[in-house]
Amino acid sequence: MERTLVLLKPDCVERRLMGRVLSRFEDKGFNVVAMKMLRVTPELAKQHYAEHVEKPFYPALEAFITGAPVVAMVLEGLEVIRVTREILGATSGLQAAAGTIRGDFSSSRQMNLVHASDGPEAAARETELYFQADEICAYQPTLTPWLKADDES
Ligand code: CMP
Repeated sequence: MERTLVLLKPDCVERRLMGRVLSRFEDKGFNVVAMKMLRVTPELAKQHYAEHVEKPFYPALEAFITGAPVVAMVLEGLEVIRVTREILGATSGLQAAAGTIRGDFSSSRQMNLVHASDGPEAAARETELYFQADEICAYQPTLTPWLKADDES
C-alpha cells in the first residue's frame, strides 16, 4: 500500500468543487486516511513549493495558494501516487485530457484545482508538512473484498 498527499487548492474550495473532486478519489477505491482544512501560510507555501521558489511564477503561486483555505488529505491505495496524478491530468487545465479532474474543471495552469505528490519522496515530505503522525487514521474499509482480489497487493 502506498500513500500520497493531496491538496484541494483554494480555487477548488472557492468554486465549491470539493465534493465532486473527492468523489473521484473515493470512486476509484482509494481510502482517505487523513483530512483537514487549513490556511496555507507563506512559510508553509515556501516549504511545500521549495523547488519552485526561485521561478518567475512563484510570487503569483504563493498569493494563490495562501489566498483562501485548502483541504489537505492523505490517500492510501495500490499505486496511489501514480494513479492520483493520472486522475488529476496534466498541470495545465488546457492541456489536461478530458475525463481528468483538471481536464474537466480547469482552464488554467496555476488554478488547476488539486495538487498531488509526484513520487514517494515527495509524498513522505509533503505528508509531514501537513500532518502529524497521529492524525493519520489507518483503517480497513469493510468493502475492501469488493474492490480488489486478495492477491492484489
Ligand atoms: P502543482 O501540481 O501544485 O505544482 C506546482 C504548481 O505551480 C502547479 O500545480 C501550478 O499550480 C503552478 N504552476 C506550475 N507551472 C506554472 C506556471 N508556468 N505558471 C504559473 N503557475 C504554475
